[in-house]
Amino acid sequence: MAKIDKIKEQFYFSNKQLKDMTKIFLMDMKKGLAGKKSPLKMISSYTDICDKNKLGTFMAFDLGGSNFRVMIIKLLGKGKTKEIFSYKKSIPQQCMEQDKDVLFGFMADTVKKAVKKAGIKKNMNIKAGFTFSFPVEQKAIDRGYLIKWTKGFTTKEVKGHNIIDLMNTALKQKGLDNISVNALVNDTVGTQVAESYKDKNTSIGIILGTGSNACYTESTKNINEKNRQGYDREHMIINMEWGNFDKARRNIYDERLDRLTPNPGHQYLEKMVSGMYLGEIYRLVLLDLVTLGDILSENDPKIFQKKYSLSSSQVSDIEKDISRSLTGVSNVLKTLGITQTKILDRKKMKEIAGFISDRAANMVAIGISAVIGKIDPKVKKKHTIAIDGSVYEKYHKFPDKIRKGLKNILKEKAKKIKLVLSKDGSGKGAALISAAVV
Ligand code: BGC
Repeated sequence: MAKIDKIKEQFYFSNKQLKDMTKIFLMDMKKGLAGKKSPLKMISSYTDICDKNKLGTFMAFDLGGSNFRVMIIKLLGKGKTKEIFSYKKSIPQQCMEQDKDVLFGFMADTVKKAVKKAGIKKNMNIKAGFTFSFPVEQKAIDRGYLIKWTKGFTTKEVKGHNIIDLMNTALKQKGLDNISVNALVNDTVGTQVAESYKDKNTSIGIILGTGSNACYTESTKNINEKNRQGYDREHMIINMEWGNFDKARRNIYDERLDRLTPNPGHQYLEKMVSGMYLGEIYRLVLLDLVTLGDILSENDPKIFQKKYSLSSSQVSDIEKDISRSLTGVSNVLKTLGITQTKILDRKKMKEIAGFISDRAANMVAIGISAVIGKIDPKVKKKHTIAIDGSVYEKYHKFPDKIRKGLKNILKEKAKKIKLVLSKDGSGKGAALISAAVV
């Protein structure tokens, strides 16, 4: 068997494997919910809705994997919202590495600039929902402690601390006494809430961006008692932290990738599916083939040695190229200084992109099927799944690939599941949750 076929096999899921993995995923969900040891933390969000009749102006802060965004949102009642201001800054590298004051100081500074630009007066008191896209042990809607960093962050003195306190202190230090955070929200939860504001069938929220995660609505009675204290609503959204699922078969490329991340041993699923890592898995496969002289043999074998030198969007460009001589693939290679390539090698490169992204989409389909298996095993109802993130939005045919995986697992029942792009929902959702709290 050719080397490339052997590699392909390691990324492949048969229909039986997809179904078996779905069952394992569901078991881990149940363990996590019951408070037992599980890679899926199943974190309580202490919210399940937003109030469609609320009026007023609210802010949203959104710390994702790459950007910090500040939004001002007006709630107009009857389920209508208007974004009146939005300001985004990319997160400087030092904020991800140094101590908490650098990160929280940067965020508070950005809020200060946004407030100035938006013309908000000192006498206007504004509440904010804070979308914080990392695993946080939530004890209430306004209290949550960082469990661990993901997505390359290593900022010191934040783990174990209450994120709302850190943010409100930083805001005060910048003289923003009129602005305070009253709700802490994971980006999946914000996305689900924002979509459910428009579509009542929304039962799951997913992020497929720099990182990956999902949440869904659970009956409160199914949640371990210590994780629902002081909460009296019938339903609660659970932040699964599915990026940490660890039961899928991992191959040598997954292992090589993991070893060189700041969080080895963690976030195995995230490292198979999210935008931060897809390009790197691809590079590691190419590096192997080049070293063996199996591909691009007329080039220096060191060409793919630089870590993270290929982005997920470049892999997507390679996969989407349908031109006869694969000029799109050549163009990506040219940006890496590789000018001499054979068509056969370019074809192989396209094939590799295809099986890496197929596996990613299959993992997402497994996760979705497991959640559906938990909330509606016979799939009696229609389900809308709100999804945001660059991989879902921009990676070539990614939504179709997820749908294919769902069909392989759920057969006809997959028709009841609608995937929708819920763009920038996470911040808006946080503002809606903030409004529901006051
Ligand atoms: C974090 C999640 C987050 C996801 C998507 C993961 O790395 O652990 O909390 O929802 O990224 O941003």
